[in-house]
Amino acid sequence: MNKNTLNIRKDFPILKNRKLVYLDSSATSLKPKCVIDAIDGYNSQYSANVHRGIYKLSEKATDEYEKARPRLADFINASCEEIIFVRNTTEAINLVAYIWGEDNLQKGDNLVTSVMEHHSNFVPWQQLAKRKKAEFRVFDINDDGTLNLEDFKKKLNLKTKLVAVTHVSNVLGTINPIKDIVRQAHEKGALVLIDGAQAVPHIKVDVKDLECDFYAFSGHKMLGPTGVGVLWVRKEILNKMKPFLFGGSMIEKVTLKGAAFNHSPEKFEAGTPDISGAIGFGAAVDYLARVGMQDIEKYEDKLKKYAYQKLAKIQNITIYGPSDINKKCAVFAFNVKGIHPHDLASLLDEEGICVRAGHHCTMPLHTHLGLIASVRASFYIYNTREDVDKLVKAIKKAQKLLILNS
Ligand SMILES: Cc1ncc(COP(=O)(O)O)c(C=O)c1O
Repeated sequence: MNKNTLNIRKDFPILKNRKLVYLDSSATSLKPKCVIDAIDGYNSQYSANVHRGIYKLSEKATDEYEKARPRLADFINASCEEIIFVRNTTEAINLVAYIWGEDNLQKGDNLVTSVMEHHSNFVPWQQLAKRKKAEFRVFDINDDGTLNLEDFKKKLNLKTKLVAVTHVSNVLGTINPIKDIVRQAHEKGALVLIDGAQAVPHIKVDVKDLECDFYAFSGHKMLGPTGVGVLWVRKEILNKMKPFLFGGSMIEKVTLKGAAFNHSPEKFEAGTPDISGAIGFGAAVDYLARVGMQDIEKYEDKLKKYAYQKLAKIQNITIYGPSDINKKCAVFAFNVKGIHPHDLASLLDEEGICVRAGHHCTMPLHTHLGLIASVRASFYIYNTREDVDKLVKAIKKAQKLLILNS
């Protein structure tokens, strides 16, 4: 593909007729009309509960809800029973920490994670280690924002039960060498959980090819609605895991003495699920597949190169993460000397540009970089070179206003 635009901005109602430069897709993405319509279709046409009714409306709701599962399974090359609907990446990781972790971690074992993790893939393991009197080991990053694999190797041993690592950093944009990490962890007998929140929206993910054991991601970061995400668990592990929440839909039989549970995925989906959320998530995945993940990767590759080239030329800017742009996604965390990140974000907002300022839920990483906060501009398929130009112009304007006037 040789185009500088994917020509899909018209599909996003929020972008119509307004001067919006949305550069906060790592926090949550915009939603295309087909996703909004799918959610609305459920609420306005067949808003019955799923798996329960013997009437047509409920059967339609069940069909549409269950259609989302194979779409998601296909999207990451998994099988349907391995796709568990959860609220988001955070809940997916907590489910593994509570269920797999409680049963498989013992005093003296260790868990290994990296300093670049989002709090969602850090705190659940830190807490689990405390509960189980296990060791919580954190490996370092290199100066260029890539994972320090030497340090990783040092942290691994035969007592390592799980390695939890992000596929793509939500701050540095670094794309991590997951297959290498999985291979090394498996050699020590440890399982591997991948936080895919920032990867699945942007790059083709194949869980079989990665050979990991758990993979978590959120619908709202990939054009879907908030409130729904996926936990993928390798079948052999899933079959040994106990249920997380108990209640309706997850049981096979209940007596006064006890209960027997359904198979996966129902076993892990107690209670009424986010029905419209899953339907919207299915529509989002269809949309991404229609645009084509390969074309999305190619488009974002060009856009990130353009953005990096333009941003790097701004005086007194520090961009965090790999300077080898091929090692990262289109996420740029930066600081501009003399301007507090929050002030910069507010000034950019005046120009209709939405960026994030703060620690982006990565306090250990920011501490490691010697920072309290940074500004983050994250790009997605609806962003253009024009958005980059507007961002650069607005940063320069802020510099003139705040630095020259001080
Ligand atoms: C890398 C990463 N992991 C996990 C999360 C948590 O996602 P959620 O808030 O959807 O649970 C995020 C959200 O920004 C993220 O960027």
